[in-house]
Amino acid sequence: MTSQTITAAASGTFQLGDLTVNRVGFGAMRLPQHGEAFAADAVPRDRDQAVGVLRRAVELGVNHIDTAAFYFSPLRSANELINQALTPYQDDLVISTKVGPGRDPSGQWLPHASPEQLRGQVEENLRQLGRDHLDVVNLRIVGTDSIAERFGALAELRKAGLIRHLGLSNVRPHHLSEAQTIAPVVCVQNMYGVGASPEQKEFLRSCGEQHIAFVPFYSIAGTGREGGATTEDSAEVHAIARAHHLSPAQIRLAWTLHQGAHVLAIPGTGDPEHLAQNVATGALRLSADELTVLDSHS
Ligand SMILES: NC(=O)c1ccc[n+]([C@@H]2O[C@H](COP(=O)([O-])OP(=O)(O)OC[C@H]3O[C@@H](n4cnc5c(N)ncnc54)[C@H](OP(=O)(O)O)[C@@H]3O)[C@@H](O)[C@H]2O)c1
Repeated sequence: MTSQTITAAASGTFQLGDLTVNRVGFGAMRLPQHGEAFAADAVPRDRDQAVGVLRRAVELGVNHIDTAAFYFSPLRSANELINQALTPYQDDLVISTKVGPGRDPSGQWLPHASPEQLRGQVEENLRQLGRDHLDVVNLRIVGTDSIAERFGALAELRKAGLIRHLGLSNVRPHHLSEAQTIAPVVCVQNMYGVGASPEQKEFLRSCGEQHIAFVPFYSIAGTGREGGATTEDSAEVHAIARAHHLSPAQIRLAWTLHQGAHVLAIPGTGDPEHLAQNVATGALRLSADELTVLDSHS
C-alpha cells in the first residue's frame, strides 16, 4: 500500500444529516501548536506548515474537518488557519465545530457556556471561519446533568439557519436520548479507541443502529490525550503493525474504522507524512483474527 496515492475516498462515506463525507476526516486541534494542545507554554506551529497540511488534506480527499474556537495557541487559531487555507471553501467540505467550553484571550479556560452564551460561541465560529452558517455544531459537555436547556438553545439557532446539523460530544446514552426529544442529532463525538470499555462499545453500536455518526477522538493519542501520541503501544499492536508494514498509530486508527460504517475518523496532526499515513489507513482491511486480538485489549 503506498500511502502517497490513497485518498480519503478509500475509507467509504457516511452521512452527517444530508451531508456526505469520507470516513477519514481531519481534526484541527494539533494545528495551532507543536506538542501538547492548550499548554500555557505552547510553541505556535509554523503558519505555512499548518496551512500546507490543511490544503494537502483536502487534496487527499478529506472533506470533513473537526475544529473549535477554543483550539488556539498564542499566535495561531485553528479556525483562522482553516479560513486562510481553504477559502473559498469547496462545496463538499463539511466543517464540524463544537461549543460549550470556552477560553479567554489569554487561553485560560472559562466555565462552560450557559444557554445564553452559546449563541456568542456559534457566532465566534462563524466569524473566524468566514461562513454564514455552520455545517455541524456539537454541544460538548462535562458531567451527567441535563443538557435540555443548552441543546434547546442550539436547536433555536438551527431553526434560525445559523446551524445545519447538531451533534453531541463527551456524552452518555441518556444525553443522546434527551437531546433527541428536542432536535435531530447527526453525530456523537466521544473519546474512543483500542481498549474502549464495553459501555463505550455498546454506545457506539447503538449510534450505528440509529444512523448517527460516531466520531472518536484520541483514537491515536489514547491516554496521552492533549499531550499526543505518548502512550506506549502493546506488543500486539506492534506485531499487527509490523505485519502490515504500517505504524502502530495507523493500526489504532484502522481499528476504530472497523467498528462500524458509521464511524468517522478525525485524526489530528501537523505532520504531512502522518496526514498521508492517516488517509491511507482508510484502505486498510484488518483480518478477523487481528480484530479479535485488538478487541480483547484493555
Ligand atoms: N470533543 C472533544 O472533546 C475532543 C477532544 C479532543 C480532540 N477532539 C478532536 O479530535 C481530533 C483528534 O484528536 P487528537 O488530534 O488529539 O488525537 P489523535 O488523532 O488521536 O492523535 C493525535 C496525536 O497523534 C500524533 N499522530 C497523528 N497521526 C499520526 C501518525 N500517523 N503516526 C504517528 N503519530 C501520529 C499527532 O502528532 P503529530 O502532529 O506529530 O502527527 C498527535 O500527537 C482533534 O484534532 C480534535 O479535532 C475532540
